[in-house]
Amino acid sequence: MSAAPADRPRVRLGDLAAMKERGEKIAMITAYDHPSALAAEAGGADVVLVGDSAAMTVLGYDSTVPVTVDEMIMLCRAVRRGLSRPVLVADLPFGSYEASDEIAVATAQRFVKETGCDAVKLEGGGSSVDRARAIVRAGIPVMGHVGLTPQTANGQGGYRARGRTAEEALEVYEGALALEEAGCFSIVFEAIPSDAASAITPRIGIPVIGIGAGPATDGQVLVFHDLLGIYDGPAARFVKRYEALRERMEAGVAAYVGEVRAAKYPAAEHRYGMPEEEYSRLQEILAAR
Ligand code: KIV
Repeated sequence: MSAAPADRPRVRLGDLAAMKERGEKIAMITAYDHPSALAAEAGGADVVLVGDSAAMTVLGYDSTVPVTVDEMIMLCRAVRRGLSRPVLVADLPFGSYEASDEIAVATAQRFVKETGCDAVKLEGGGSSVDRARAIVRAGIPVMGHVGLTPQTANGQGGYRARGRTAEEALEVYEGALALEEAGCFSIVFEAIPSDAASAITPRIGIPVIGIGAGPATDGQVLVFHDLLGIYDGPAARFVKRYEALRERMEAGVAAYVGEVRAAKYPAAEHRYGMPEEEYSRLQEILAAR
C-alpha cells in the first residue's frame, strides 16, 4: 500500500466524522481501475468507492447483479495500487453477504486481505443491518446504503426514488438509524427527495453521502464514468456530466483509424532511426539472398 504524500495526509474514518461536525462537504467518487484511481487521487477525492456499478461501467453487464467477488477483487486491487490519500471502500456484490453473518464476515475479510481496502459497503436495511453489525464486530469498517438499492431494486418496485411519502421517508430514516446503531461509519443515501434527505441527515450521527439526495447530505458521490461522460447511456436525473470523454475517446480513435488508412501515421517523429551504413549493409545482404 502506498503512503500519502506528506503535504496531503491520508484521510482516516475519523476525519470524515470531523468533516460532518464542521459542516465540511465530503467528496466521494467511484473508481474501477488504476487510471481512474489516479484521477480520483489527483482530483482530491476524500473517499473512493469501487462500486458494483463496475458491472455496467467497465464489465458490460446490464445490471449490478451478475458481478462476482473475484471480479470486484481484481478491480479493487488495481484501484488500491493507484490510491494513497482517500479512504478506499469496496462494494460487496449481490449474493456475497446476505445469506448469513458468517458468509458476510468471510467475504469482507477476503476484500480486506486481498485488496487492502479500508472498508466495505453493503446495501439495504433488514438483514443487512445484522450483516453490517457482524462485519463491524469482526473489526472491518462498514458503509451502509439506503434509499434506492440497485442490487434489489427489481424486487422493490424498480429504479425509482424512495421516500416520496412521509411513511417511505420514515422507513429510510429508520433503516439509516439501524445501520448507524449497527456500527457503520457512514451511509449512502441514493435517490431520496431533497426535502426528506435534509430532514433526516441532521438526525443521523454518522456522515451521510448522497447520490440523488439533494444538497443537504454531508457529502456527495457520483459514478466516475457518469460524471466524465465515459458511460453515455441513459442517466439518472442526479447525474451531472462534467466532461464528455466518450465523444472525445471516439473522436480520438476515429482520427487514428483515419490516419492509418491514409498512411499519415506513423509520421517521422514516431519512427526509430538506423545508421545509414547499417541500412546500406542490410540492403546488400538482402539483395544477395
Ligand atoms: O456501485 C456504486 O457505484 C454505488 C454508488 C452509486 C454509491 O453504490
